[in-house]
Amino acid sequence: MEAQLSVGRVAELAGVSVRTLHHYDEIGLVRPSSRTAAGHRAYSAGDVVRLREVLAYRRLGFGLREIADLVDDPATDAVAHLRRLRGLLLDQRDRAAAMVVAIDKELEARAMGISTPPEEQLQAFGARLYDAIGSAYPATRRTEPRIAARIWAALGDARTVLNVGAGTGSYEPPDRDVTAVEPSAVMRAQRPAGAAPCVAAVAGRLPFEDQSFDAAMAVSTVHHWPDPVAGLREMRRVARRVVVLTYDADSTGWRQRFWLIRDYLPEFAELLVGWPSVADMTRAIGGRAEPVPIPWDCADGFFEAYWRRPEAYLDEHVRRAVSVWTRVGQHAERRAVGSLHDDLTSGRWAERNPGLADLDAAELGLRLLVA
Ligand SMILES: C[S@@+](CC[C@H](N)C(=O)[O-])C[C@H]1O[C@@H](n2cnc3c(N)ncnc32)[C@H](O)[C@@H]1O
Repeated sequence: MEAQLSVGRVAELAGVSVRTLHHYDEIGLVRPSSRTAAGHRAYSAGDVVRLREVLAYRRLGFGLREIADLVDDPATDAVAHLRRLRGLLLDQRDRAAAMVVAIDKELEARAMGISTPPEEQLQAFGARLYDAIGSAYPATRRTEPRIAARIWAALGDARTVLNVGAGTGSYEPPDRDVTAVEPSAVMRAQRPAGAAPCVAAVAGRLPFEDQSFDAAMAVSTVHHWPDPVAGLREMRRVARRVVVLTYDADSTGWRQRFWLIRDYLPEFAELLVGWPSVADMTRAIGGRAEPVPIPWDCADGFFEAYWRRPEAYLDEHVRRAVSVWTRVGQHAERRAVGSLHDDLTSGRWAERNPGLADLDAAELGLRLLVA
């Protein structure tokens, strides 16, 4: 017989009161499927799955009526709920990180006796991650010509190109008809004069007809999308060819190879938990994955770019232009930068990483997906 959990045990495990569980039962939201001989509520494995969904949506701020509609939707199975919850939680985490950045800015301003205008204070509460950190982006983020050449070659003879998560437009090919999609107002505002027209939208819902572009591209952005596979399918829907520069999160080898993650910032791995595999992503667009080595003097200051120039990570401007440092939180950032500084000064970094100076390029998990 299937194991059942008592109402008291379920309340204890889930960290809610027995009263809450009784209420959910009374309103029909989570009805335990049986009773013990003594008449007490008993929860089956299926009841627990439903309760977990209810509690997760509740924690995300959904109302009980809304939750009832969500969990009763016959078109959404347990896996689909988990995917949706995961995306919503990641979005919430990024918004919390954005708010921390905005609060820190205001605290700094206050300490200097400067008052923050009311509009700015309010904006901080609705901020997306890139609205909070985007102004630091142009300091070190720009086109790396060797990576651009790979992307542009993969676009083939496409004449019309959609650039999703376009940011300031670093990898937009100059010789094609480009349309950009970018949700952050701060990033859109930093696009150079004469850059391709840019639409405010998200990858998960592209406001274009099926097959309306020859190609769709996405560079260093898929890891920010709440549901990467859904966004990639959208790209596939609107374009005949798809080109994506992203990371291989499932092979752990390169995490061990990249000293910054291995020795200083293991928290990076947490950002990738549950991230779709390269196989899932290529399946979503129906294509193949090719490794992209990172040149030692990479011009685009993304997270791995300075693998042979470790001192760069001590520079606040370098870190502020890479979302990883905001997402791991100040505590991890301070610790990582402090230890790196100590190891560079003592010579320990050089001892731990012999031979790097002889490499012209490194394979650190960057992948070009082409379909
Ligand atoms: C690291 S930047 C990359 C920008 C540009 N592609 C480049 O290579 O310089 C990531 C961009 O993805 C955007 N982004 C975040 N969430 C998104 C979403 N759901 N759909 C589309 N773009 C998104 C951010 O606003 C940000 O501009």
